[in-house]
Order: sequence, then structure tokens, then C-alpha cells
Amino acid sequence: MKIVLAPMEGVVDHLMRDMLTRVGGFDLCITEFVRVVEQLLPAKTFYRLCPELLNGAVTSSGVPVRVQLLGQHPQWLAENAVRAVELGSPGIDLNFGCPAKTVNKSKGGAVLLKEPETLYQIIKAVRDAVPKDQPVSAKIRLGFDDTSLVLENVDAITQAGADLLTVHARTKADGYRPPAYWEWIAKIKEVTDIPIIANGEIWNADDAKLCQQRSGCENLMIGRGALAMPNLAQTIKNNHAPMSWQQTKELLVSYSGYEIYSDKGRYYPNRIKQWFNYLKRQYPEAETMFVELKKFKNADDIVRILAA
Ligand SMILES: Cc1cc2nc3c(=O)[nH]c(=O)nc-3n(C[C@H](O)[C@H](O)[C@H](O)COP(=O)(O)O)c2cc1C
Repeated sequence: MKIVLAPMEGVVDHLMRDMLTRVGGFDLCITEFVRVVEQLLPAKTFYRLCPELLNGAVTSSGVPVRVQLLGQHPQWLAENAVRAVELGSPGIDLNFGCPAKTVNKSKGGAVLLKEPETLYQIIKAVRDAVPKDQPVSAKIRLGFDDTSLVLENVDAITQAGADLLTVHARTKADGYRPPAYWEWIAKIKEVTDIPIIANGEIWNADDAKLCQQRSGCENLMIGRGALAMPNLAQTIKNNHAPMSWQQTKELLVSYSGYEIYSDKGRYYPNRIKQWFNYLKRQYPEAETMFVELKKFKNADDIVRILAA
């Protein structure tokens, strides 16, 4: 079984990837999306979103990190894909699932699920441009408003030569509302030979099992669940017990050891508060502690509360 750490824009950056892959259980990470308009982006844009490129494109614990691109222009996506691979990205992931209004207005992300032909053109252009030994993966939802085009989209993705397909088993209209329709992934598997990764609404090892049963898919991608329970991948893959609240607090404290330059010291407090939103789901203690620490703006105060 392979477990992929989901791309999460504004949440799972290189520090979070470092932390979660050190806890373990992950085989691959996908970066936050790099937005491609009509331009070949400079190397520094890729390094900013994926500093691991400077370190062999792996996290400090050795897990590969693949760059994700989002956009609508086949040729510009292809050129930027080549650049990302030249900079060291192990393959390219293409985002066809982002529900954000600003992104969809400029025709990137989930809105492309309305246009199987555009999906085909994008994946084909990227596949043709990137060296054969570098995988091109795509990440989709079940559709935009509904699931009517899902099998057509999967067919387009298959014909275009994608090597791997992650399916977030909800439409854009479903947003992040439970449930995730894992059964749909089983139907998708009937119409394609591309290896599939199932994604959506996996919060514990039982969910993972159920998702595998319903989707017929062994490989999983997890996002929010890994923030709610940092060793979720280990509980799924290696039967570890869920991390205790005490262990989780220690992890949060160790996260303060990451120094971020030129962010005026706001990085740690902001990220910890954001992280608590997910932790509250798994640990009731996080709810109480959040009330206490949300009023603080500097790292030392927050660490003091966490370490108390
Ligand atoms: C805050 C946030 C940011 C996300 N950013 C991205 C992104 O940059 N690229 C992408 O393909 N999916 C993105 N997603 C979707 C996730 O990768 C994943 O498909 C979704 O959260 C469902 O998986 P989960 O239930 O395990 O969280 C994002 C989701 C959230 C909640």
C-alpha cells in the first residue's frame, strides 16, 4: 500500500511536509499548486513552493516531493512541467480539482472537469513534453456540478497517457462536505488501467479500510486527516496506535524549532492556530487549549502553553 500526503495550498508547505513525513508512513508528497498562466515561471517560483528541489526533491526523511501545476493552457503547462522536472521534481502532478472561485474564474482546477477535451489536451501536451521516465499524474474530483462527465473525463485522461490518477471522491459542488463517494472510484477503475489513488474523508484507520473496500483501491491520499492525527499514515499502514495528545503537543513544540526568516515571526503562531482547527477533530483537549492560545501572537507564549 502506498500513502500520498495530499497537496493543501496554504497549509501543507515544506515545513509541514518535513514534520509529517518524519512521523512517517508516507511514500510521496505533492506540493501546493503552482499557478501557471501564460508564462514560463522562473526557477525561484518553484523553489519557493518546493524548496525540497534544492535537496534532491525529497523531504529530510527521504520522501519524494512532486510539483503540482494548475492552469488551463496546454503549452504553458507543458513548458513549466519541463522546467519543474529539470529542477528535479520526480514527475508532475496536474490539478483538476481545486474548487476556489478565483482559480476557476481563470479556468484552472475543477472547472476543467466540464471540458474532457481540454483535460486531454493538457495531459497530452505535458506527457509529450516531459521525459518518458518521469510520471505525469492527474488529480480530479468526480465532476464540477455533478458526476455526469466523470467517466468521459477519465477516458480523456487515459487516452492522453497519464501515469497515475488521484480521485477526490466528491464533485466541486460537494465542496468538502461528507461523505466522500468512494464507490465511484470502483466504477472509474472499470474504465481505465491507470493506477488510481483514492482520496477524501479518511480520518482514521477504519475509514481507510472502508475506503479501500468500497473503491477497490489499495493506494490512498490523505490530507486533513493527517493534520488532525499526525501519525494517521502509520496507523493505516503499520497498525500504530493513534498519537496521544501528549505526543502531539510535543510535535507541535518541536515545530517551533523551524526558523522562518523574513516573516516577522508570524509563521509559527499562525500555522499552529490553523493546525489546531484540524486537531480539534481528533483531540478534545485541543479545543480547550485553542481558546487559551488563540489570543497570543508570538511563538514563545504559544510554546509555553503547549509545554505546560
Ligand atoms: C486547505 C486546503 C487546500 C488544498 N489545496 C490543494 C491543492 O493545492 N491542490 C490540490 O490538488 N488539492 C488541494 N486540496 C484538496 C486536498 O488535496 C484533498 O483532495 C482534499 O482535502 C480531500 O482529502 P482529505 O479528506 O484527506 O482532506 C486542498 C484542500 C484543503 C482543505
